[in-house]
Amino acid sequence: MSKKEDKSLIVGLDIGTSKVVVIVGEVDMDGAIEVVGVGSHPSRGLKKGVVVNIESTVQSIQHALSEAECMAGCRIHSAYTGISGSHIRGLNSHGVTAIKSQEVTPEDVERVIEAARVVAIPADQKILHILPQEFIIDHQEGIQDPVGMSGVRLEARVHIVTGAVSAAQNIVKCVQRCGLEVDDIILQQLASSRAVLNPDEKELGVCLLDLGGGTSDLAVFTHGAISHTSVIPIAGDQVTNDIAVAFRTPTQSAEEIKIRQACCLKHLTGPDERIDVASVGDRAARSFSRYDLAEVVEPRYAEFFEFAQKELQRSGFENLIAAGIVLTGGSAKMEGVVELAEDVFHMPVRLGLPHDVTGMEELVRNPAYATAVGLLLFGNENRPLRVGPISRAGRKGLWTRMKSWFQGNF
Ligand SMILES: Nc1ncnc2c1ncn2[C@@H]1O[C@H](COP(=O)(O)OP(=O)(O)OP(=O)(O)O)[C@@H](O)[C@H]1O
Ligand SMILES: [Mg+2]
Repeated sequence: MSKKEDKSLIVGLDIGTSKVVVIVGEVDMDGAIEVVGVGSHPSRGLKKGVVVNIESTVQSIQHALSEAECMAGCRIHSAYTGISGSHIRGLNSHGVTAIKSQEVTPEDVERVIEAARVVAIPADQKILHILPQEFIIDHQEGIQDPVGMSGVRLEARVHIVTGAVSAAQNIVKCVQRCGLEVDDIILQQLASSRAVLNPDEKELGVCLLDLGGGTSDLAVFTHGAISHTSVIPIAGDQVTNDIAVAFRTPTQSAEEIKIRQACCLKHLTGPDERIDVASVGDRAARSFSRYDLAEVVEPRYAEFFEFAQKELQRSGFENLIAAGIVLTGGSAKMEGVVELAEDVFHMPVRLGLPHDVTGMEELVRNPAYATAVGLLLFGNENRPLRVGPISRAGRKGLWTRMKSWFQGNF
């Protein structure tokens, strides 16, 4: 039985390519979240953000889950979880409806959003999110909350995110196999954006780049609303692989060298900084300079940023992000990453750490936890009133849910 039966708890479960993280938050009367438990375990069953081995994924989730339950002193029954992978598509759409009684009602808003979601989607994809960007009443643009306003014609601009049905089903299958229910499946970069971006940045225009292990997830915000999302299937694992190949060392040792000693800018390394590299088989370890290591890492990181830059150019929002780029995710912890990104993008770049939650800050203020913290925040802002602590509750109306996305500047 749950020890914290009288408290309102919320759980974020980030099933990443490198690690599974469970974060348990306690929500107070004002909606503020205090982290009371964290569990993390290496992830074995994913490739490039997608579940490829259910058994291994279930085991990783179970380990992270019991660690978080133990720390929080509670039993977890359900969680908000994320989704990523190259099957994710983002598109902008537009809907129009007549305002029935000259004053916009929540039903009018639901109707206009329903109209905007009528787009051709392949049969193997499902809609994950419909995120309102703005409403237009009788050609008056830029309206965020149209309910109660007068007019005859209501239009909505929305960003629609779709994903492969099978990928979502496999996530649900893994979570259910661990005895949990899925509260909602949220696009990972949407969650990370909630955790690391400020409302001012979203208003001014900003691009979030979550550099993980298997995927680099991108989200662009302009005028306070989401404008573009995409997933680039290349990230930190590629760097580890490059190091393993270049220095002929096992992957595990390449990963350790990368995390402890790598730098993605050659000119930041000193000429006599040395690293010992294990060899494969029975051969003796060898010594290299940190400069040699940076020579392998720098071009790959530059390539990540060039891919992201091309994606930004393709989206048409490159010139609308005055607040620049915010980097997060485990691979954003690499030394020199902000400087290199500034060189490539020619824009201001900062490192985004999760904020807006209290408790266990030394553990949680880590770019690798941006998605997990974001799942808590996003889930909390969009969840219906709960009866029990972590019980599943009924769905909110479409508009109520959309409205809270808006209030969260989504
Ligand atoms: N200090 C560090 N310096 C450089 N890279 C690091 C550091 N710490 C972790 N990483 C790298 O970050 C990556 C994992 O990032 P993260 O935990 O955000 O991934 P994930 O969420 O599990 O995966 P994904 O989001 O791609 O599915 C790994 O490639 C790891 O090597
Ligand atoms: Mg991730």
